[in-house]
Amino acid sequence: MNGEGKVVCVTGASGYIASWIVKLLLLRGYTVRATVRDPKDQKKTDHLLALEGSKERLKLLKANLLDEGSFEHAINGCDAVFHTASPVTLTPTNPQAELIEPAVKGTINILKACAKVSSVKRVIVTSSMATVLFPRSPLKPNDSIDENSFSDPSFCEDKKLWYILSKTLAEDAAWQFAKANKIDLITMNPGLVIGPILQPTLNFSVDVIADFINGKNLFNRRYHRFVDVRDVALAHVKALETPSANGRYIIDGPIMTTNDIEKILREIIPDLCIDDKSEDIDMISMTYKVSVEKVKSLGIEFTPTETSLRDTVLSLKEKCLV
Ligand SMILES: NC(=O)c1ccc[n+]([C@@H]2O[C@H](COP(=O)([O-])OP(=O)(O)OC[C@H]3O[C@@H](n4cnc5c(N)ncnc54)[C@H](OP(=O)(O)O)[C@@H]3O)[C@@H](O)[C@H]2O)c1
Repeated sequence: MNGEGKVVCVTGASGYIASWIVKLLLLRGYTVRATVRDPKDQKKTDHLLALEGSKERLKLLKANLLDEGSFEHAINGCDAVFHTASPVTLTPTNPQAELIEPAVKGTINILKACAKVSSVKRVIVTSSMATVLFPRSPLKPNDSIDENSFSDPSFCEDKKLWYILSKTLAEDAAWQFAKANKIDLITMNPGLVIGPILQPTLNFSVDVIADFINGKNLFNRRYHRFVDVRDVALAHVKALETPSANGRYIIDGPIMTTNDIEKILREIIPDLCIDDKSEDIDMISMTYKVSVEKVKSLGIEFTPTETSLRDTVLSLKEKCLV
């Protein structure tokens, strides 16, 4: 097992993506220090405590992104840190307090703790395609993007894209801090993540699929792209285990139309009818061209989107969430 004898910290461990990262790490033999806001909240922790290997190698620790220093006890003595905690909402009432401060200050709090600890050899931050897809001039159909593409904070602010702004500012702050403090930083930049859930409640991205099941098309999009949570979690772990891994990693899926999704989901829900739009009326065109060769070089084989969609629906049904 690759992780035997190694201690790693995962922030925001009860979240959707983080829970899968914790699961994989435990299966690979790592000892995991999992930070959560409230270790006594069973709704957020029971699924972690039920994971294989958790009895022997999982420790839950309390930490909040806004409390400076609160991650130090979890990070002290770790070989590596996976920073996934960040608020995910598209409808904040106070964007600064609810999204931007926890994302940016939280990231810096964690990197400060890492800089103090000589045992930490690598930090993997869960960033997002949100930090890639929103340049000053909005992407047009068939535009090409790659790991050198960056969202423009002033564009995000002008358009009130607060979640996207929070991720863009947080990733930028992370790169600046890492450079100044010689931290070996890697960012993972996934698109919309779907696939089975381990936690008992809906998170934002899987809720998009729950909406489809109810016939709704949240973004009013005709074109969609998804990545599987199992691939995203494995990419995080491979980024730690591959010595030559570096920089940003785009993790994105192929283009699908609403009709494609409807056809796949009808195998499970025969009378499903999803609200379709005749054109892409979102802020960007989802038909951009992107290469995922960099993340594939870590050994990631992408799960077909059909499988991810089916597995998401089956998981939501099993947990009685749809
Ligand atoms: N899902 C996607 O499609 C997607 C795509 C690209 C990037 N991402 C990024 O992936 C990461 C995880 O997202 P997710 O989809 O797994 O969402 P999630 O299930 O909502 O997880 C977010 C986690 O952040 C924690 N958190 C929020 N505010 C916090 C605070 N002030 N202090 C400590 N922890 C805090 C939450 O803790 P509580 O459980 O206590 O609320 C939760 O564990 C985020 O950084 C997100 O931006 C997600």
